[in-house]
Amino acid sequence: MLRANDGGGFTRPSARLYPHQWLWDSCFVAIGLRHVDVERAAGEVLSLFVGQWPSGMLPHIRFCPAIGEPYHADPGLWGVRDAVEAPPVVETSGVTQPPLVAEAVARVGAAMPARRRLAFYRRVLPGLVAYHEWLYRERDPENTGLVSVVHPWESGMDDTPPWSDAVRDLAPAKVRAVRDAGDLDVLEGLRRDNKAVPAQERIAADELFTLYELTGRLRAVRYRFDELRAAGLPSIRDVGFNAVLVRANRQLETVAADAGLELPTGLLRAMRTTRDAFRNVLAGGFPRHQDARTGRLLPDETVAGFLALYAGVLPPEQAGRLAGQLFDARWTGRYGPASLPFDAPAFDPGRYWRGPVWPMVNWLLVDGLRRSGRVAEARRLRDETVELVVRSGRTYEYYSPVDGGGHGAPDFAPTAAVFLDMIYAE
Ligand code: DGY
Repeated sequence: MLRANDGGGFTRPSARLYPHQWLWDSCFVAIGLRHVDVERAAGEVLSLFVGQWPSGMLPHIRFCPAIGEPYHADPGLWGVRDAVEAPPVVETSGVTQPPLVAEAVARVGAAMPARRRLAFYRRVLPGLVAYHEWLYRERDPENTGLVSVVHPWESGMDDTPPWSDAVRDLAPAKVRAVRDAGDLDVLEGLRRDNKAVPAQERIAADELFTLYELTGRLRAVRYRFDELRAAGLPSIRDVGFNAVLVRANRQLETVAADAGLELPTGLLRAMRTTRDAFRNVLAGGFPRHQDARTGRLLPDETVAGFLALYAGVLPPEQAGRLAGQLFDARWTGRYGPASLPFDAPAFDPGRYWRGPVWPMVNWLLVDGLRRSGRVAEARRLRDETVELVVRSGRTYEYYSPVDGGGHGAPDFAPTAAVFLDMIYAE
């Protein structure tokens, strides 16, 4: 599957549905590929940096013109060349994705001979440091330690309910009219992403068109955090994104130390603040997102909360409590946690982030459980994930937590990659 999705030095998450390069998807791909072709895995990571903005931002999509399939959120929607003073050298989206790159760099590097590793680390470190500095400078100007995301596609969990609430008021008048008339079929006919995957497995049409509107508003403020806040657009301190950042900071320190390079003092200070802030993430009960505008914790419990285990900084007693919840029947059937608890009003076993199990989320949880010393639970989740993919016979994007049926793209590269890693790494 990884070969079939090769786009020429990078991997498309899915040849039909996602025919370009995506940020965190490629990180998972590199983590899997390192077992079979470490140079190709390194190339996967380096290819991401071709799309890096001069500001340091790593975009969630690097567009690749050579690939013919039309993609619904294309460069025209993002308008980066016109919106940004210093655009990147290739077409990209205007938002980022969970910062898994340092994890991918460290994993790929660990699979290389020492001299080659040193060269790889030295090549990648300037861009990686610039990205982490951008995250802090742009997305945490108040130095709270927790960075904000400004679009659900940045969370990596694109159709997650907290964002439906956050953007509801942005629905364009035409979308509201159709929604109020209960006539969503009109919108279904206008969307492009439902050609590759059934609409009922994707985000609802009115919400998709609302996200296009949000993207337009972000473009209008040139993707600048200060301006989007002044314009009253949503910003959320996403618990999953910040969990990935905590771990990425740790991996960045390891990579820099191995390469004999010192990280900037300001960055080290910000990284410490994040770690300390994140340790309190269970203070409000289950780890949840925070509205960055009001400081209010959002009510929804989503699988993102369990990524606190992956961050790797929770005191053992808290990690144990969270692991207990993870395997509780409210969240886990046979194949690891659903993306929403089974009793959530929005739960839907086959719809994008509204219920399905995601192998790449399971990979993060297996890794987090293992590093928390919860080896038996890590093994159980690893085995269940492998079984899920084997039984379905294909590397689907997501699977029903009820019956293990595959949904979304059937040729999903990150699933293939984490499957490989789960098999090889043990
Ligand atoms: C999509 O096309 O729906 C993607 O999730 C955007 O990143």
